[in-house]
Amino acid sequence: MSQNIENHLIEDREFLPSEEFRSKARISSMEQYNEMYKESIEQPDVFWAREANELQWSKPWDEVLDWQPPNAKWFVGGELNVAENCVDRHVAAGRGDKAAIIWEGEPGDKLTLSYKQLQDEVCKMANVLESRGVEKGQRVLIYMPMIPEASIAMLACARIGAIHSVVFGGFSAESILDRLEDCKAEAVITADGGWRRGSIVPLKASVDAALEKYAGVKTCVVVKRTENEIDMVAGRDVWWHEMAAVASNEHEAKSFDSETPLFILYTSGSTGKPKGILHSSGGYLTGAYTTCKYIFDMREEDVYWCTADVGWITGHSYITYGPLAMGATQLMYEGAPNFPDFGRFWQMIEAYKVSIFYTAPTAIRAFIKAGDAFPEANDLSSLRLLGTVGEPINPEAWMWYYNKIGGGRCPIVDTWWQTETGAIMIAPLPGCTPIKPGTCTQPFFGVEAVILDEEGEEVGANEGGRLMIRKPWPSMLRGIYGDPQRFQETYWNDFEGIYTVGDGARRDEKGNFWIVGRLDDVLNVSGHRLGTAEVESALVAHPTVAEAAVVGRPHEIKGQAVVAFVTLKQGIEATAELEKELRNHVGQVIGAIAKPDEVYCTPVLPKTRSGKIMRRLLKELVATGEVTGNVTTLEDFTVIEDLQKKIKS
Ligand code: PRX
Repeated sequence: MSQNIENHLIEDREFLPSEEFRSKARISSMEQYNEMYKESIEQPDVFWAREANELQWSKPWDEVLDWQPPNAKWFVGGELNVAENCVDRHVAAGRGDKAAIIWEGEPGDKLTLSYKQLQDEVCKMANVLESRGVEKGQRVLIYMPMIPEASIAMLACARIGAIHSVVFGGFSAESILDRLEDCKAEAVITADGGWRRGSIVPLKASVDAALEKYAGVKTCVVVKRTENEIDMVAGRDVWWHEMAAVASNEHEAKSFDSETPLFILYTSGSTGKPKGILHSSGGYLTGAYTTCKYIFDMREEDVYWCTADVGWITGHSYITYGPLAMGATQLMYEGAPNFPDFGRFWQMIEAYKVSIFYTAPTAIRAFIKAGDAFPEANDLSSLRLLGTVGEPINPEAWMWYYNKIGGGRCPIVDTWWQTETGAIMIAPLPGCTPIKPGTCTQPFFGVEAVILDEEGEEVGANEGGRLMIRKPWPSMLRGIYGDPQRFQETYWNDFEGIYTVGDGARRDEKGNFWIVGRLDDVLNVSGHRLGTAEVESALVAHPTVAEAAVVGRPHEIKGQAVVAFVTLKQGIEATAELEKELRNHVGQVIGAIAKPDEVYCTPVLPKTRSGKIMRRLLKELVATGEVTGNVTTLEDFTVIEDLQKKIKS
């Protein structure tokens, strides 16, 4: 962490957009940004009413914001239909033939859906869900590969007022079960499978395993994607293509109150149980739309590509809702970035003439390692804007992205935000903000980001502290599903009415934000949040494990690697096979992304005299191979010496 800060302090490369880019951008000078930012902070009602009014409302709101910390209501009394805004609105405006989603499957199959075709599909799915008894307010779990039906399923839920909860296709059956139970879902939308690195991910089989232990689901709609053999449970499971063949493509959308819950998305926290982050309709859509408009500066002729999965918030806001609310054309890709090799993305950028490309630092680092020959083999001149998200980007990766992919001509928007914030919070505006490798630069409109010390005082320039947000913003989370107390405790207890982000950061003398990383026990593995407590509880659920401590170690590609220390139950012998089994066990309980890179079996864990595991020491140990920090509270130093030997061997 301290090394990161030092790197940042000496970073003096700064880049400005070209005159050509600047002159066409919606916001083309810092004066314009500053003026709009000032208005957004001093008169949020005026600013956000103007933005939200670009969407389609069937009933105007009475009040822009009702803020009773920690509860915010945006566009109070207003009514809209989110799906209509993302689809029908564009068809009605005569843009029905415009491509909404250009999709490519991993095996190379292709499909383009125009806005009119998307409308037909969303209406059919809405009709199917309603015919199966799904109603407003019910929870629908979506577990899908990256195929257009994933967005169609989300929009169909939005259209009928059902609350979707998308679970990333890499999560396990147990993770599905946890989420089904937590949100008490009544329907599931899934597929027989999806393609990943040339193999079929058996999605339906995982859903079946979860549904064996959860009886609340009355209907499961299954999209045929891979044609692998699956079980269909009579009465409960239906094929989407069979239902779609007879479903009407007309569906009258009802309007819903602006605060109608739109979705629940689970994310890791510092306890064992993921939190169901709840987002609502009007404010969320306004946030997703406005950030697409200003930060990606999306244009009618752009081909936009976000490489995230819809199972993460990036896929919600910047695949399904934001770009479609803008009426943009976007590319969607099913598979792995390195299938059949690391040239896949660059071939697709050339083939589809992608102009805006949004990906994660971890992917960029993997591409760097794979070698320049891959991007050099393709014509990337269609690109005009690049983006990153998910973790701090190291300056070397930034420079490579800027020069090798962007040809030195495309601004990079390093976008800082979270599942909870719903939309981008800190990022450059590509037509005006001076960009530098490693900083997400300036707050977006309406975002009053501050860095506070332990007492809640603002720290000076370049001093590290906690990143906090002072004012409510439209796309902010509305709660943790079913747990108002945890909502209050996690986000609002540090300082009255101020949102606790959970990241450490500093702000330089020019006002740029530099994110250092999480301050809690949450790891960032390949841009995805993973709670150490979650992995620990998976480990102790194994019959051989007595105790577990999980820490992160810096990792060249993934950002952080997961390292687990376990003590075994009496009489159990530590073997290489057992360590392997424990890794796989975590993969089975949570999903492959949570698999520890290393598992160390140890007779004891380093503890304080009062019995608390000293994770700080373990973290230092795995990062540097030794422990230099304060160990005076450690009960028995020989534990560390033994572990040191083990790690070095
Ligand atoms: O630590 C920050 C990091 O990712 C966390 C949010 O994770 P999640 O909710 O999974 O959302 C990821 C995609 C929005 C943050 O608390 N993070 C996200 N973007 C950046 C970042 N850290 C530095 N720079 C970023 N651009």
